Amino acid sequence: MEKRAIGIFDSGVGGLTVFKSIREYFPYEDIIYFGDTARVPYGPKSKHTVINYSIQNTRFLLQQNIKLLIIACNTSSAVAIPYLQKMTDIPVIGVIIPGAEEALSLTKTGRVGIIGTEGTINSNAYKNELLRLNQKLEIFAQPCPLFVSLVEEGWLDTQVTHLIIQEYLSVFLEEKVDTLILGCTHYPVLKAAIDTYFSGKVNLVDSSQAIIKHIKPFIDNSSLQIGKDLFYVSDNEVKFVKIADMILDKKVTNLKKVTLGESWFVE
Ligand code: DGL
Repeated sequence: MEKRAIGIFDSGVGGLTVFKSIREYFPYEDIIYFGDTARVPYGPKSKHTVINYSIQNTRFLLQQNIKLLIIACNTSSAVAIPYLQKMTDIPVIGVIIPGAEEALSLTKTGRVGIIGTEGTINSNAYKNELLRLNQKLEIFAQPCPLFVSLVEEGWLDTQVTHLIIQEYLSVFLEEKVDTLILGCTHYPVLKAAIDTYFSGKVNLVDSSQAIIKHIKPFIDNSSLQIGKDLFYVSDNEVKFVKIADMILDKKVTNLKKVTLGESWFVE
């Protein structure tokens, strides 16, 4: 029987945190990853643009005959999922619902923090989902755009890293949250530094882990072939490989560059 791959897309390299966790849990699956490195970052862009890019990325992956579409990018997940679901009959899974559910299961005080890009925070997607799950939650949100650059520079434990963490996250200490959603693909890479800032007293929700529960129902474990990885980027292969090494702890091979040109564009 033909083996169809799981498709994952992200605005760039950060979604490899989601790729890594899916690869670990499902070693027999083939995975196709698309990082839109030509148009990253999505975080500061308008909702319209992010939806448009997400539609193009989805169209590209659907052409690869995938069986499941994972939206690793929080910013895309926050605004584009309903549009992407209309494009296909295969399951489309984003990171917002898994992250919100995980936060709800962890919080004891009902005081939950969310960090993400400006796009994710302004969309209120996590907040709305959390309140849909439990109206009594008290929610505090903060965009942390500089975290993306820290990770891409590989500055995971420098003086500057700790200062920026303090600047962005002190509000969560003041508000006494007991759970914080790391609502951006890059943030799990800073988990150790964030955990140190909170002295290990705040639950950190990593959607790259939380999403696994939502993928499991669609995976049958009958294949005994070790899964293949295929990576596509829209630009900057060298930078992608460099950061990928850090996130995955291994060399990325099987990398191709694609151009999502005019023919992909949908207004
Ligand atoms: N992948 C994006 C996210 O998870 C972060 C990087 C960007 O702004 O594109 O929201």
